[in-house]
Amino acid sequence: MPTPSTALIIGASRGLGLALAAEYLKRGWHVVATVRGNRPTPLHDLAATAGGRLEIARVDIDIAHDVAALRRQLNGRRFDLLFVNAGIALQPELPIGKVGTEDFIRMMVTNALSPMRVIESFESLVPPDGAIAAMSSELGSVGDNVDGGWEAYRASKAALNTLMRSFAARHAGDPRTLLLIAPGWVRTDMGGPDALLSIEESIPRVVDTVSAQAGKAGLRYLDYRGQVVPW
Ligand SMILES: NC(=O)c1ccc[n+]([C@@H]2O[C@H](COP(=O)([O-])OP(=O)(O)OC[C@H]3O[C@@H](n4cnc5c(N)ncnc54)[C@H](OP(=O)(O)O)[C@@H]3O)[C@@H](O)[C@H]2O)c1
Repeated sequence: MPTPSTALIIGASRGLGLALAAEYLKRGWHVVATVRGNRPTPLHDLAATAGGRLEIARVDIDIAHDVAALRRQLNGRRFDLLFVNAGIALQPELPIGKVGTEDFIRMMVTNALSPMRVIESFESLVPPDGAIAAMSSELGSVGDNVDGGWEAYRASKAALNTLMRSFAARHAGDPRTLLLIAPGWVRTDMGGPDALLSIEESIPRVVDTVSAQAGKAGLRYLDYRGQVVPW
């Protein structure tokens, strides 16, 4: 039997990250997925039914020694997919003039700086035919920003996109697939009850989109239907 592909999913305690872990397990992958803290999460419930194919690890991506400890723990492993999903939205309804400095910094750190630190630190575990993805958002598109709203969050995802472009530029010629994913507006704790899509309408298509990019080098910014999102 061929060795199953392995995914490392960062930020999978609930919401879209949890669903990503579940979807990759359903497709026969081995999954290492992370939570922060020591409390039981829905990911732990998923592990109970995963037949040993789901390993749970711990990392708060904003804490440098956490990231370093996980990197040491996973040294020597190989991941066909690294997917950094973790993200936050703090008082997203506030226009930028009303956003507190601390909240602005928190979103920039958790949504842009920390995912890139994870990618920089773990990319060497992804082989030449592997993929590195970060969960961006439709709201990260500068070109599509005609409605405003979620201003500081938007800026943090636009920053993530720009930093990922810099990473790609620095790795020109790298055969690996690099992806920024816009999952649609989805009913999770972050997306809220009025969001357009259920998790089931988004995440299997996100996984299809990632799969369809296998073997394609370079960076793409794609939505859950596989459509290109304007930068
Ligand atoms: N839902 C949407 O409509 C939507 C649309 C576009 C993009 N996104 C993006 O999709 C991703 C997942 O969103 P979601 O809707 O599933 O949100 P969610 O339900 O609020 O879940 C967020 C996840 O990120 C984790 N996380 C947050 N900060 C972290 C940190 N510092 N270190 C490690 N993990 C951390 C959370 O862990 P804890 O449980 O420990 O808090 C949780 O697992 C985010 O990047 C979000 O920006 C969501």
